[in-house]
This record gives sequence, structure tokens and C-alpha cells, in this order.
Amino acid sequence: MTPDAREPFVVAHRGASAERMEHTLAAYELALEQGADGVECDVRLTRDGHLVCVHDRTVERTSNGTGLVSEMTLEQLRELDFGGPGRPATVLTLGELITLVLDWRARPTKLFVETKHPVRYGGLVENKVLAELQRFGIASPPSADHSRAVVMSFSATAVWRIRRSAPLLPTVLLGDSSVYLGGGAATTVGATAVGPSVKTLREHPELVDRAAAAGRATYCWTVDDQEDVALCRDLGVSWLATNHPGRTKGWLAAV
Ligand code: G3P
Ligand code: CA
Repeated sequence: MTPDAREPFVVAHRGASAERMEHTLAAYELALEQGADGVECDVRLTRDGHLVCVHDRTVERTSNGTGLVSEMTLEQLRELDFGGPGRPATVLTLGELITLVLDWRARPTKLFVETKHPVRYGGLVENKVLAELQRFGIASPPSADHSRAVVMSFSATAVWRIRRSAPLLPTVLLGDSSVYLGGGAATTVGATAVGPSVKTLREHPELVDRAAAAGRATYCWTVDDQEDVALCRDLGVSWLATNHPGRTKGWLAAV
């Protein structure tokens, strides 16, 4: 995951989440079928210590249940429907998503795992993510470019923890321009890439070159408009996360 001049790799944000319910197996399968180069997921801990792919603290928005993910067991979460009308789906564990990515034989793809609320659990989430990557043999890649997994966080502390425990694993420090423009926290914690929002990229396009000068790639989220895809390509963004992986691959192939 080094800065380079290729067209951006396309990461399906929560799967093909514009067309299927986010973080479901169906959303990830569709993204891979559409040619996504990688898939993104958020992970949270259940009450009984399992990592599940859920963005929000609660399950209200994405399932037919109510309550905090952190106060429910995996078994309780499995009883809920995360798929919506006509497409029932159970909650996805990180292990199940890793299995899908590694079993995808059409081409090698990457998994981008974002840890949520790292401060609250004092490193437990990062340790669990690493243990899960280790279980599948992908926590110590030969190089960042050849890694099948990338760990991301808005928390510099979380990124630092990952770097300390798994120095070969690529990382992205997500966040705003103040973090990146002077090198800042991404340099301090040794993140492989900076991770601005597309709004920040529009306002500060120079951040891509600055990151590259410091040996860092750029991961930009969430890039759903055609002009923003073109901006990422023109600036040399390495990875762009989008809710529309199929459409985005088409746009990039057409130029
Ligand atoms: O890919 C990074 C992006 O997902 C960060 O924002 O809120 O969608 O997790 P959020
Ligand atoms: Ca995310």
C-alpha cells in the first residue's frame, strides 16, 4: 500500500451498500462480483466478546431490533434481521467476512477493518482484531502491498497499538486535515496511509502529495460522485472507499 501512479483501487464501503443492506454477506458478495478491489467494514464487540460488522453503537438503524451491540450476545444479535424487506440477513462476524474475502478466488482482494470506540475498551478491540487476523494467517504480511488486511481507525492510539503489535500490517489513520497537513499524528504513529474524507480532499488536495512525500499512501472516503472519483484518480489517491463499487469501477475503466 505504497503511494503510486496507478488508478485508485476501489474499496466497497460496508459492501455494495447502496444496493444491499450495509455489512451483510449479500452486500459484500455483490461488491466482489462487481469487481471491488477491497471491502471495508466497521467492527464492534458484543457483550460476550465477539467482533461483529456493525457501524452504529445500536442496532436500530440497520436491523429489526433495538439496543446496544455491546450489551447483546452474538446469539441475541443472530436472532435479528439485518437484511431488510425481501432479503433477510443475519449479523456478520469479522471471521465470516475474512473467510469470504480469502475464499474469493476470482482475484486477491483486501479487507479494510475499522475499529470503533477503541478508547473505551483500552486496546481490547485492536487485540481481538489482531487475534482474528492471526487465526487466518494474515496478521504478518510479507509487505504492506501484499497484505490481505488493513486496519483503520479515527483514533491515533488505536493505530499506534496495531503498529506496535503487528508492525508489518498496513494501517490507515482516518480523520481531518489538521491531522495530515503537517504530517501530524499519522507520522507520529507511523500509519501506512492517511485517511481523509472526500470533503477534506476537495478542500486540501495537496495532502496527497504531502503524504506521498512522507512515504504515505492516501485512503479517501466516501467517494460516491463521478467528479470526486476523477479527483482521486488525478491526485493519485491509492484507495477510495465508495458505496457504489460497480459504478465506480466502470467510471475508472472508461477513462
Ligand atoms: O472508510 C472510512 C469511513 O467508513 C469512516 O466513516 O462513519 O462510515 O465509519 P464511517
Ligand atoms: Ca467505517
